[in-house]
Amino acid sequence: MPSPVLSVTGLSKAFPGALALDRVDFAAHAGEVHALIGENGAGKSTLIKVLTGVYRPDSGDMTYQGGRVRFATPLQAQHAGISTIYQEVNLVPLMSVARNLFLGREPRNRFGLIDFRRMHREAAEALRSLGVRVDVTRQLRSLGVGAQQMVSLARAVSVDARVVVMDEPTSSLEPREVRTLFGVIRMLRERGIAVVYVSHRLDELYEVCDTVTVLRDGKVVRAGPIAELDRLRLVSLMLGREMGEVRGQGLTKFTGEHAAGGEPVLRAERLTLRHTLHGVSVDVRPGEVVGLGGLLGSGRSETAKAIAGALRPDSGRVVVAGTPVRTGSTPAAVRAGISLLPEDRKAEGIVPGLSVRENIALAVLPGLSRFGLVDEARIDRVVETFVKRLRIKASSPQQKVGELSGGNQQKVLLARWLAMRPKVLLLDEPTRGIDVGAKAEVQKLIDELAEDGLGVLMISSDVEELIEGSDRVVVLKDGAVVAELTGDAVTEDRLMRAIAAAGGSDDD
Ligand SMILES: Nc1ncnc2c1ncn2[C@@H]1O[C@H](COP(=O)(O)OP(=O)(O)OP(=O)(O)O)[C@@H](O)[C@H]1O
Ligand SMILES: [Mg+2]
Repeated sequence: MPSPVLSVTGLSKAFPGALALDRVDFAAHAGEVHALIGENGAGKSTLIKVLTGVYRPDSGDMTYQGGRVRFATPLQAQHAGISTIYQEVNLVPLMSVARNLFLGREPRNRFGLIDFRRMHREAAEALRSLGVRVDVTRQLRSLGVGAQQMVSLARAVSVDARVVVMDEPTSSLEPREVRTLFGVIRMLRERGIAVVYVSHRLDELYEVCDTVTVLRDGKVVRAGPIAELDRLRLVSLMLGREMGEVRGQGLTKFTGEHAAGGEPVLRAERLTLRHTLHGVSVDVRPGEVVGLGGLLGSGRSETAKAIAGALRPDSGRVVVAGTPVRTGSTPAAVRAGISLLPEDRKAEGIVPGLSVRENIALAVLPGLSRFGLVDEARIDRVVETFVKRLRIKASSPQQKVGELSGGNQQKVLLARWLAMRPKVLLLDEPTRGIDVGAKAEVQKLIDELAEDGLGVLMISSDVEELIEGSDRVVVLKDGAVVAELTGDAVTEDRLMRAIAAAGGSDDD
């Protein structure tokens, strides 16, 4: 085998309370797509951050294009030809889409000023080549998380790189965008670029990767061609459990139909929001899991936000258990029993400086205090239960959430909303970024909550999850309901056809 373009040997990195990398060997070859996998907290992002100069290793050697290197900053790594999409979208929300694409290498005119016209034109072209049509002069934050990921991708592949590293690039992408991404990855491979690819969606790995390195608790437990490992073996290596124990893991854990009945606990009627929603109606009965299907930009997240008071609809009503709720007010929605796990967890939820315990307790506190006194012991019990069930990897409940791995931060937020036990639970991408083991547990929890009589409205870009988890799927397109699948019609095929029949969606 030719020598690798980028490799490390004996790499170690410790954080207080966690040995994130333990004598790791890793090698990426030109023209090869290398999967890096492992449970939440296994050390994947840390390895990437050490490779790209974000973190300094405690020990170990690194070789790049035949020479010993150590990058002091991400910019150094980038200039050397290592382009990275980090797990946390590290773009600037208040700047325009175009500016984000060209950050640090803006085209300039002869006076040294940014050439905005050229920048806008080239940004639009770069995105269009990825099938994304957006107004590039808009602020980045006006885009959904999925579209933001496509901007990161456009940025990463528009520089001249030898190595492209992608940390969970597909977590918020729809099947169609995933296809585009894979096209891009194959093109990179043909150009002889080394691609390092992190994902919890195992089927994707088989489709696009050549080799795999499995990390567990900071150690490499396996490295080699991915074709030599079947999915079951891969999961058992990741989790460190016997094959027999993991059989069925990674498949969804939903039990199927719920005995939903009675009057709707949630009724959203003709929600309208300028440019976004055009009279969306949906209801959810107690004990029912209703899926919201549709492409990126079809209005699913906006529907959830309008119901939960995070967006104020221009018209329309939200009724919970027969009582109208004041729209456009999160506190009013929460008081009525609605809670929303938002799509953009980083901007709208997690408090990195607070502990795991505090982050979970934030929402349940009002319910657990009587006469102004907080029942600390009960909070401890709630926190302990969720840390255990969702397998949140933290050194203790006191650890700051900002120090957890990406997937474990997701779990903490999820725990917060699940612990609230509202009447209506709105989940926007509940298992995004969560590893196979914990994903099954989350799905089981959603099932249990529904069985307890909660109404659940779920958005998921994981089609399998949406189909198997929902009793009914309401399909949106361009901010309007175009189809509803019930009973035996809740299948992947029918969903795809419903979306296709409504016409392709090319705009945002
Ligand atoms: N800044 C930090 N301070 C303290 N501990 C940290 C820090 N960053 C990471 N860790 C710890 O290092 C370990 C590895 O984390 P890492 O983010 O590399 O995991 P990961 O494999 O990327 O997981 P995920 O799939 O959830 O993204 C975890 O135990 C995490 O808590
Ligand atoms: Mg990570």
